[in-house]
Amino acid sequence: MTDTKTTQHSEWSSRFAFILAATGSAVGLGNIWKFPYITGENGGGAFVLVYLLCVLLIGIPIMMAETMLGRRSRQNPIETMKTLAKEAGADSNWHYLGWMGVIAGFLILSYYSVIAGWASAYVLKAFTGSFFGADATEIKGLFDSFVASPVQLIFWHSLFMLATMLIVVRGVNSGIERAVRFLMPSLFVLLILLVAYAMTTDSYDRGIKFLFTPDFSKLTANGVLTAMGHAFFTLSLGMGAIMVYGSYLPKEVSIAKTVILIAGTDTVVALLAGIAIFPIVFASGLEPAAGPGLIFQTLPIAFGNMTGGWLFGILFFVMLVFAALSSSISLIEPAVAWLVENKNMSREQACIWSGAITWLLGLGTVFSFNVWSEIKIFDKTIFHLLDYLTANLMLPIGGFCIAVFAGWIMKQQHTEQELGMPDALSYQAWKTLTCYVAPASVFLVFLHVIGVL
Ligand code: PFF
Repeated sequence: MTDTKTTQHSEWSSRFAFILAATGSAVGLGNIWKFPYITGENGGGAFVLVYLLCVLLIGIPIMMAETMLGRRSRQNPIETMKTLAKEAGADSNWHYLGWMGVIAGFLILSYYSVIAGWASAYVLKAFTGSFFGADATEIKGLFDSFVASPVQLIFWHSLFMLATMLIVVRGVNSGIERAVRFLMPSLFVLLILLVAYAMTTDSYDRGIKFLFTPDFSKLTANGVLTAMGHAFFTLSLGMGAIMVYGSYLPKEVSIAKTVILIAGTDTVVALLAGIAIFPIVFASGLEPAAGPGLIFQTLPIAFGNMTGGWLFGILFFVMLVFAALSSSISLIEPAVAWLVENKNMSREQACIWSGAITWLLGLGTVFSFNVWSEIKIFDKTIFHLLDYLTANLMLPIGGFCIAVFAGWIMKQQHTEQELGMPDALSYQAWKTLTCYVAPASVFLVFLHVIGVL
């Protein structure tokens, strides 16, 4: 994004810059930390299949819609909804959608930063050789004693929030473009390497079978909701992050091609993470349903026992922290853009305010792994509740509204013009998915969860 424009709202330097930033937002802890553990908790193959279907039928059309809304208005999500509702002659209440996004961003970042803090701590653990020759029990012990310490978790959470704020203060600009450019390919290479390690274990086939052989008897209604929610989470949809990035996108860029590329990359990264992790889970006699600690309890075993594992371990966790950073900045950008553009704050002030609120909220997650682990609301710890509320409810509801707005409220002439599809058939396909398939699927999944279906 360059800051050379005379208006307050900037623009990416190229299509490539947008691809990098949006891929940076999409690829993150969701792919490498969350996808494997929720897949493990929800029985594997059938869950993966539902997730893939959701990416294809709901995620991609909504991602196009969200990018399009941002680009058409060139403002932050709250103002975008206001302006476009006016343009379509619709109710101004649509701007509450922007608000829900800003709130979801704060809530997600509050726990995202804590987990990214874990990844940062693991860089140091890898560096000091903590994994060397360790078996599954030792690695689990290491993780358990780490998360039991609020002081350590707060330290790493603070460090990560600080790094996020420093990047956002400077504008989501060339720094991150450059970092992602080098980071994504490196992360990819390391994942392939881990997959190669997983192949050397005697449980590779079992891992693959777990991931890709659907057994629908293992999938609950809540599992379906989690799979759908994860499609939104992993593609950064439903809360304005992609909208705000879209608002910096030059007019001549093809939204469809760009979005398909981003969603494809994101999915491949998640699948690679799963392929790397599950063979190690089975080979080490671990539980696939170990929960949020899964990658921290499995990958270090690989690093501790493979040739060159010391270096690869450090590199892997460094990459993971960077991948998390390029996502976290997009979680906070809608709020910052709004404060700067509408509340006349400087970028510094906006970052300090948003960062401080998120940091404070994050303490809830920190304590939910130790001193408050017994506190349950709706049978969930604070961390689980935040995750459920945002990924399973707020993002799908936000996405549903975006689809309805783009498909039913906006004038066809405007969406056609803004999307600039190569032919009428592809436009029709998008329109059908956005008007019917995506909103109806979200709705049906909700009905299924509350037991109506
Ligand atoms: N997509 C990110 C990930 O998979 O880690 C998380 C995320 C970023 C969710 C931005 C939502 C968002 F707006």
